[in-house]
Amino acid sequence: FPPSAEFAAAANADASLYQRAAQDREAFWAEQAARLHWHHPFHQVLDWSQPPIAKWFVGGTLNIAYNCLDRHVLDGHGDQIAIHFEGEPGDTRAITYRQLLTETSQAANYLTELGLQPGDRVAIYMPMIPEAVIAMLACARLGLTHSVVFAGFSPTALRQRIDDAGARLVITTDGQWRRGKPHPLKTAVDEALHHTPHTVEHVLVVRRTGTDIPWTPHRDLWWHDTITHAPTHHQPQPFDAEHPLFILYTSGTTGKPKGILHTTGGYLTQTAYTHHTVFDHKPDHDIYWCTADIGWITGHSYIVYGPLANRTTQILYEGTPNHPDEHRHWQIIEKYGVTIYYTAPTLIRTFMKWGKHIPAAHNLTSIRLLGSVGEPINPEAWRWYHENIGANKTPIVDTWWQTETGAIMISPLPGITTTKPGAAMTPLPGISAQIVDEQGNPTPPTNTDTTGYLVLDQPWPAMLRGIWNDPQRYQDTYWHQYREHGWYFAGDGAKLDTDGDLWILGRIDDVMNISGHRISTAEVESALVGHHGVAEAAVVAAHDTTTGQAIVAFVILTTDTPNTGDTLTNELKTQVATHISPIARPREIHIVPELPKTRSGKIMRRLLRDIAEGRQPGDTSTLLDPTILTTIHTNKT
Ligand code: PRX
Repeated sequence: FPPSAEFAAAANADASLYQRAAQDREAFWAEQAARLHWHHPFHQVLDWSQPPIAKWFVGGTLNIAYNCLDRHVLDGHGDQIAIHFEGEPGDTRAITYRQLLTETSQAANYLTELGLQPGDRVAIYMPMIPEAVIAMLACARLGLTHSVVFAGFSPTALRQRIDDAGARLVITTDGQWRRGKPHPLKTAVDEALHHTPHTVEHVLVVRRTGTDIPWTPHRDLWWHDTITHAPTHHQPQPFDAEHPLFILYTSGTTGKPKGILHTTGGYLTQTAYTHHTVFDHKPDHDIYWCTADIGWITGHSYIVYGPLANRTTQILYEGTPNHPDEHRHWQIIEKYGVTIYYTAPTLIRTFMKWGKHIPAAHNLTSIRLLGSVGEPINPEAWRWYHENIGANKTPIVDTWWQTETGAIMISPLPGITTTKPGAAMTPLPGISAQIVDEQGNPTPPTNTDTTGYLVLDQPWPAMLRGIWNDPQRYQDTYWHQYREHGWYFAGDGAKLDTDGDLWILGRIDDVMNISGHRISTAEVESALVGHHGVAEAAVVAAHDTTTGQAIVAFVILTTDTPNTGDTLTNELKTQVATHISPIARPREIHIVPELPKTRSGKIMRRLLRDIAEGRQPGDTSTLLDPTILTTIHTNKT
């Protein structure tokens, strides 16, 4: 799908970007950094003298909130709408840049009054409402490091994240709207803080659903009693380019989530640059909508920081795509004239299931660019998206990146790249990637599904600066595999086709991708063995037509636990959902007498995956007891 001449003529990106970036990477990134307002200019673009510790824009200072708010107001754009908020129950708010600045200033003033100091950590556990964005910006304005925890996470998961970060404050809401009903949220915070000791001094609560909630005097504070009355002017202070901006927890190969640390100057540079070029964003014309939740990196980089730095007018939608019915997204697009729409393959596949007559009932002609993120997009879903949402002409950007990369790394550039359904195509200008084998040799181009490993062989501005509280794990997870080369190991399988275009083939470690959400097999296994009836558990990801992958668990019961069939497996599914989050609820749980193990006792997940996907198990020669598989198979069916 080549770009149309019309799109190419007006595109933000031009083909010379690739050339310029290749000629002088650092000069290229310095040019991108100039998109921001620096309080004090940097004197060095990159310090990579102690890899893998990167320092970008050395000596530079800036304030992120100033870049996202004040400067737009000072430039005369105070009346531009920053956020069109659509609440799930149908309430709406249009918030201008001036209002967003005022409310962020009030929040910053009150957080200062609470005694919070730069570098302190603040946990944010909120639904998709404007105050969530304001809370993040207020933290950034004060140099507080936020840790947003997805509001679907359980009290246990929240507690784990609050403890690891050592948060002094939690910002939350009384509840959130889900399919027309209020769901409590503050009670989850209470439960997370029920155990002692913890570092949290205050819980700041936004009233959203109006439900009665338990209250701990002195510790708990209402947003409307405090922030709403705080002074409306706040003078922002500049922070070092490497000042910690946020921690965001993501799943790794062990049960313990990793606190991915991002800093200030490089992160904002790359999110703003990619939002400008990949989404071809024009601040005076576009209405942009990224459907992610602020609890994930996509929400951080492409709802909050990148778009606001670029003076975007955007949609913030609180609810699910099928409330009150499956027309909701298309109605919102029609109502606001959305021009850029960025979503995940799992949702596109859900739309496909609901039927094309649903989007066809709406005028979607405002859309001029579509994006995809979170998992490989299957060509069928790509074509459906192109035809039914993009009127057979809208460019699609399939953007590959990770919580760790902070911003988009591999993607077509609209107006330049001729796209192929399912391919992420090429690293962006300024980014360098390779596909290599285990030894680090480049894998030959292929049109088969032969997998190589994706590595990033040069540092990039928005790269993670470490894992919170765990420098060794940072080294081991990302830099150990190709330590002789000094390359970042992404954990994804990939290939180059014979045209030299890049295809991402999915995770090659024990991280599963369920509806675009990362969940490790170890996390689910430990939630399962946390149940008194489970002696051992093995979890694999099986292909799923909607969610991309789905969780399939095989469990061995303790000897005194009767197998009550569905009653027990449903109980186990609930155990996982409440321990981690409903996203992690297994699709299937099979109770088996044994698990396939090698002579050294290692569970052979590959064989379990074969069984879960209904294939004949592959090579079983290393199994301690090959008859086990027949038994498991019989138990499963
Ligand atoms: O496996 C890749 C997949 O999502 C992983 C990163 O997950 P997370 O940190 O939660 O960030 C998701 C949003 C950026 C990657 O290692 N992934 C992400 N985007 C794509 C993708 N796989 C294929 N194609 C993509 N466009």
